[in-house]
Amino acid sequence: MYIEELHRTASKSTTLKGWVSNKRIGKGIVFIILRDGTGYCQCVVTEETAGAEGLQIAQQLSLESSAILTGNVVADEKQIGGYELHVTSVVPVGDSENYPIAKKEHGVEFLMDQRHLWLRSTRQWAIMRIRNRIIYSIHKYFQEQGFVQMDAPIFTGNACEGTSTLFETDFYGEPAYLSQSGQLYGEAMAMAMGRIYTFGPTFRAEKSKTRRHLSEFWMIEPEMAFYDIFQNMDCIEGMLQAIIKDVLEHCPRELKTIGRDISVLESSLKQFPRLTYDEAVRILKGEQDVNGKNGIGSLQEELSRVVNRLKEVDADITDRETKIAAGGVKKGEINFFQGKIDSLKQEKADLEEDARNIPQWIKSAREFEYGNDFGGSDETVITRLFDSPIMVYDWPHAVKAFYLKRNPENFEFARGVDVLAPEGYGEIVGGGERETNLELLKEKIVEHELPLSAFEWYLDLRRFGSVPHSGFGLGLERMITWICGLKHLRESIPFPRMYGRLTP
Ligand code: 4AD
Ligand code: MG
Repeated sequence: MYIEELHRTASKSTTLKGWVSNKRIGKGIVFIILRDGTGYCQCVVTEETAGAEGLQIAQQLSLESSAILTGNVVADEKQIGGYELHVTSVVPVGDSENYPIAKKEHGVEFLMDQRHLWLRSTRQWAIMRIRNRIIYSIHKYFQEQGFVQMDAPIFTGNACEGTSTLFETDFYGEPAYLSQSGQLYGEAMAMAMGRIYTFGPTFRAEKSKTRRHLSEFWMIEPEMAFYDIFQNMDCIEGMLQAIIKDVLEHCPRELKTIGRDISVLESSLKQFPRLTYDEAVRILKGEQDVNGKNGIGSLQEELSRVVNRLKEVDADITDRETKIAAGGVKKGEINFFQGKIDSLKQEKADLEEDARNIPQWIKSAREFEYGNDFGGSDETVITRLFDSPIMVYDWPHAVKAFYLKRNPENFEFARGVDVLAPEGYGEIVGGGERETNLELLKEKIVEHELPLSAFEWYLDLRRFGSVPHSGFGLGLERMITWICGLKHLRESIPFPRMYGRLTP
């Protein structure tokens, strides 16, 4: 029996198999929080129900050891999961001595080194379950619409997203790259199947530590024949909203566990604002307001809020530390006080980070040069003003990928679209309508210093029954990070690969 299914067997005898995620010992009683991957259940062991031997075994069960517990299921609203197991038998399975992850706070680097164990903690468990649901809902969404899933190759001779982030490998003596994107192959397949989507790993050498970049990430890349950029945007919005709805409906427990404020997910179910690059730049530079809010003005307000709060937090920490040091606190209260100090220190660290970042953001927003691509901080400034993702389209062609279609009405612009997630998260989707003009495409390939010969097969798609078509790429980890409200992409994937991290 799995914990998730306990409601089916209430008041019957049941066996649970899992791991001890927490344990409290009282007089003649042991409370075990057992986890089995589907959920958490409080299991109560007493001499009366489990016998003296059962009680003794339970007392010795250590953190993260595994065990099989049998007992009666009792409904109890107050307990996590709503049920409790009154244990009649305890069978230890695997011991766990000196489990390295304790309850107290650990630094992220330590936890990353322990990733193989950290995945067992409640928060990571919840994130991984949300990841699972998102993957499921993406397949569900596209399959129900009649898209055909395709697998693009990982070894490739084509650079799709610029040559600076390529991982080069040796393919039987020939240089090959790990795929940065399945798009070019997706376009070929769309001409065969109509509408397709890829769902696979992609690789980019990003030689810097940022919270938005992984070296290995998963991308979903739909490609649709006979779609223009506006139909493309409809498709993106439909997919993103289907994912959000699905997570809200199926993962309320997990969202609660990670403390996600879901109001922004709910407000993302209305139509996403669609802005041209020109409008987005005006918003960024503070020349155009959004719902009465000015980008730069609200950053300045935020900065003074941060500075004031920082003073309060500092005073609070000092106050509590002085009280403890002076011995003015009862022994029982010290733990509570210390816990409060720890969380204040965390808040302080976050505030200090904001105090460092915000002036930078203001500066780079003010100095933004029209015609450039957006950087991470530009995206942050814009998206803090919105309560749903936004779509920015019609970008200067010079700063975007070679394959984007030129806007026939204004040749300086290409029909690309980026989706930026709110709350400062920034880009989660990049896509657009594809260039179909053979000569223009060749020109662009040469301009990007890519070898024409490697793209002949791709150009064939324009020689034989070419049609208008569009597509996009959703970064899975970017989506998870935003949905879960995480600070860094590294917690959104089981074993992150990024600059400086290849293990575990
Ligand atoms: O914007 P990008 O580079 O677009 C493409 O690769 C197109 N070929 C997609 C298409 O039109 N079929 O990447 C798409 C998305 C980004 O919006 C971002 O969410 C994610 O992939 N992404 C990354 N995620 C994690 N780590 C990285 N280093 C990423 N680079 C891009
Ligand atoms: Mg992009």
